[in-house]
Amino acid sequence: MPTIEKDFRRSVVYQIYVKSFCDSNGDGLGDLPGITRKLDYLAHLGVDYLWLTPFYPSPQKDNGYDVSDYCAVDPRYGTMDDFDELVAAARERGIGIMLDMVLCHTSTEHEWFRQACSGEERYQAYYILRDGRGSAGPGDPGEPPTNWECAFGGSAWEWEPRLGKWYLHMHDASQPDLDWTNPEVREACADVVRFWRERGVTGFRFDVINLISKPEVIEDVPGPGAACRSLVADGPHVHEYLRELVERSGIDGMITVGEMASTDLANCVRYTRPDDHELSMSFSFHHLKVDYAGGDKWALAEPDIVELREVLREWQEGMQDGGGWNALFWDNHDQPRAITRFGGRGGVGERGGSWDLVGKMLSTMSFLMKGTPYVFEGDELGMTNAGYDSIEKYDDVESKNAYRMLLGRGSTPDEALRVMGERSRDNGRTPMQWTAGPGAGFTTGEPWLGVSANHEQVNAEAEVGVEGSMFEWYRGLIALRHTSDVVALGDVRFLDAGSAAPKVIAFERTLGEKRLVVACSFDDEPCELTDLGTDDMTVLLGNYADCPAEGVLRPYEAVAWSR
Ligand code: GLC
Repeated sequence: MPTIEKDFRRSVVYQIYVKSFCDSNGDGLGDLPGITRKLDYLAHLGVDYLWLTPFYPSPQKDNGYDVSDYCAVDPRYGTMDDFDELVAAARERGIGIMLDMVLCHTSTEHEWFRQACSGEERYQAYYILRDGRGSAGPGDPGEPPTNWECAFGGSAWEWEPRLGKWYLHMHDASQPDLDWTNPEVREACADVVRFWRERGVTGFRFDVINLISKPEVIEDVPGPGAACRSLVADGPHVHEYLRELVERSGIDGMITVGEMASTDLANCVRYTRPDDHELSMSFSFHHLKVDYAGGDKWALAEPDIVELREVLREWQEGMQDGGGWNALFWDNHDQPRAITRFGGRGGVGERGGSWDLVGKMLSTMSFLMKGTPYVFEGDELGMTNAGYDSIEKYDDVESKNAYRMLLGRGSTPDEALRVMGERSRDNGRTPMQWTAGPGAGFTTGEPWLGVSANHEQVNAEAEVGVEGSMFEWYRGLIALRHTSDVVALGDVRFLDAGSAAPKVIAFERTLGEKRLVVACSFDDEPCELTDLGTDDMTVLLGNYADCPAEGVLRPYEAVAWSR
């Protein structure tokens, strides 16, 4: 069996949202055998690693990010044999498997939490428990211990009568946070990672891993309350805990990525600098907040491209200068589809419309910047936001809470539904579009989440092997990642596209004599470019069918020149 030892700097990771990828048994949920069935498709696309979202036993309050048993397969997704078969079959094709480790919190259904509730002090020490404020004594909850708010709306504390305490949950109330100051918790988490490593997994993604180290003192923040993710991010012992986890589980040198919520550049450098032996790379999210009006995810605004450019510049150049490494992405299971977000609503499924241009422009950027590109399932087909016409069609806990919150704030149902159409995470979770047929070829049954109506135009069958398709564009970019040293390893520097091109993001990559210049327009109008020094260079790729014009970028045009 070939081993998977690839340089992560030259690799491409493909994220599979297991529940929505391929259903092999007609129950409407994707599953592990479904993934095995599609390995030839993935090998043909050319990706190196598959990141699988959680398929462990879970009450599914947060779609599997509420884990009740870390070392088993939820029967709805298959069996441990199915898992072993998937790992082996992927390996035969030179593809590694990365697993999602949700170690910041468990489910309330996890054995540890159950034991805690049944009075086991050992397991009570696994969680963050506090007395209520103003409580009159045992049995009286009083008020939540602090004014912290969880990520999905409402207090970050839940009263548990069996404990006679409040427990901290930074996400849903069914996701109690683990207390990482407890060495036994840290050891137990390392055991989980070791368990999967020993089963042949080649890498890991760590869910909200920068939230594991809480502040020494847990107290109110000024004002009525605040989202606690930003209070807890990159806490006092986070680097120490991460290093210890990596060492104890024996995964140093494997491909690893941390999801870093509300993080900063200095910490991400430390998470990913090879000498620190923490992780290979990090996800940060600042570039995906440029269309939040006033920083509020549920308030719509047009994307601010000047800000986007500045965020990307800071993270590209800053991580490079610090010796860190970025994970590059636009989409994942927590985001609406970027193709819709950044202007690609026109001519869906056709060549030359804004859908086609934006999809190819965004992927050009993420594949040619410095870091490791991630493709989220369906990106390579140009899958778009779901476009559901009623709130009943949504499933996600965060979205449903936000919908209620918007109505409470005075939005009409139509307005709130419009916000969901733009912002709900379910936009990225719709079933994979394999064919134009019923259930989009994802399932022969009733899909757990509605299939997007445009699967009749946007689907794998219509795109694989078809010249000029989104799929073939992605295949080309993936191949370039594998063959081009300057793309994988070159230095990055952002360029000024000039005052007449405020919605153009341009950068160069250099390695020795090699130079690559990339310009991407987020503008729906043509714009004039300043001289980017490309006179003696040749066009390596462009997303229009004909050659780029000199000094001008057409709407949503992306061009890369090389020398
Ligand atoms: C991460 C996951 C997200 C989940 C949250 C809580 O952000 O990507 O889907 O809801 O963590 O586990």
